[in-house]
Amino acid sequence: MDQMKWRTLPSRCSYLKLFQSLVLAGLFHFASGIITHVTKPVNDMMKLSCGYNISTDELIRVRIYWQKNNDMVLSVISGKEKSWPAYKNRTTVNIISNPFIMILGLRPSDEGLYSCVIQKPEKKGTYKLAHLTKVMLSVTADFHVPNITELGNPATNIKRIICSTSGGFPKPHLSWLEKGKELNAISTTVFQDLQTELYTISSELDFNVTNNHNFTCLVKYGNLTVSQIFNWQKSQPAPFPFNQSWLWILIPVGIFVIFVIAVFYWQLCNILMDIDSCHLSHSILTQQHHH
Ligand SMILES: *[C@@H]1O[C@H](CO)[C@@H](O)[C@H](O)[C@H]1NC(C)=O
Ligand SMILES: *[C@@H]1O[C@H](CO)[C@@H](O)[C@H](O)[C@H]1NC(C)=O
Ligand SMILES: *[C@@H]1O[C@H](CO)[C@@H](O)[C@H](O)[C@H]1NC(C)=O
Ligand SMILES: *[C@@H]1O[C@H](CO)[C@@H](O)[C@H](O)[C@H]1NC(C)=O
Ligand SMILES: *[C@@H]1O[C@H](CO)[C@@H](O)[C@H](O)[C@H]1NC(C)=O
Repeated sequence: MDQMKWRTLPSRCSYLKLFQSLVLAGLFHFASGIITHVTKPVNDMMKLSCGYNISTDELIRVRIYWQKNNDMVLSVISGKEKSWPAYKNRTTVNIISNPFIMILGLRPSDEGLYSCVIQKPEKKGTYKLAHLTKVMLSVTADFHVPNITELGNPATNIKRIICSTSGGFPKPHLSWLEKGKELNAISTTVFQDLQTELYTISSELDFNVTNNHNFTCLVKYGNLTVSQIFNWQKSQPAPFPFNQSWLWILIPVGIFVIFVIAVFYWQLCNILMDIDSCHLSHSILTQQHHH
């Protein structure tokens, strides 16, 4: 029925055809003017709906294309589905009533302008645009807040720390700052996972433990940043009174005091009585104590 109408219309009156193409051109212009913006995090999925109902009997005759910029993503022609290599295994399609595709495991390179194009048969072998939908996709890939961990002491009084973060895009730049001044790192490595396209970055820094420090590890990517602070307090002679150095003073002083008391007692005995009575009184005292 539909097919008949499309075939007979142009042959009946050519001015109608002209009118029709003008309307279509207007529709095309109108549709291309409306671009929906969608922002998704990396690894998420995106549903690209055509926003156009296709009846089951139309389905076998229409052509549906999903494109990204000017590259093919997926097509359904005569009800037969085909997906292009970059989208194989991560695209699902639905063509019943309102057709849509789902792209799974979004990557940074999936960013771009997507369109759904629906064509209907016109004359024998020719098709005309029946519908166009455009969606602008942005994919965000945010780095985690960096971690700073200690890596031990490569030399006396020198400590090594490492700052690292992952899961972001685009390519990051890492810097170490102290009081707004950039420091020189020992080494900085950047790694990109070729499948997910996401970056991992880490950097090592050495510092002198005999001073206080307040380091900032700053990671910049695109126009975004993430950072972490590392604070180092040098070990001070603690205000706590009974630490080791006090003990080293208290032990000899204690021994000296005991010695002085012993000597004083011995001298007192010698002065007040003779040595024997001193011994006697001592033994009587201890015996009494036992009873
Ligand atoms: C498509 O059809 C469904 C019902 O089958 C309706 O709910 C929906 O609004 C229609 N969408 C458009 C774009 O016509
Ligand atoms: C898709 O998956 C199949 C099996 O899981 C595998 O053989 C094929 O290489 C994959 N294709 C792509 C493009 O990843
Ligand atoms: C650490 O700093 C102190 C004082 O600032 C200095 O005397 C010492 O030589 C430094 N140590 C190293 C290993 O650079
Ligand atoms: C360390 O520096 C950061 C800013 O660079 C500041 O916000 C923080 O308070 C400082 N911490 C200390 C303990 O000085
Ligand atoms: C950062 O970049 C994104 C696109 O990459 C843009 O949408 C956003 O407005 C930018 N933000 C700023 C503050 O420049």
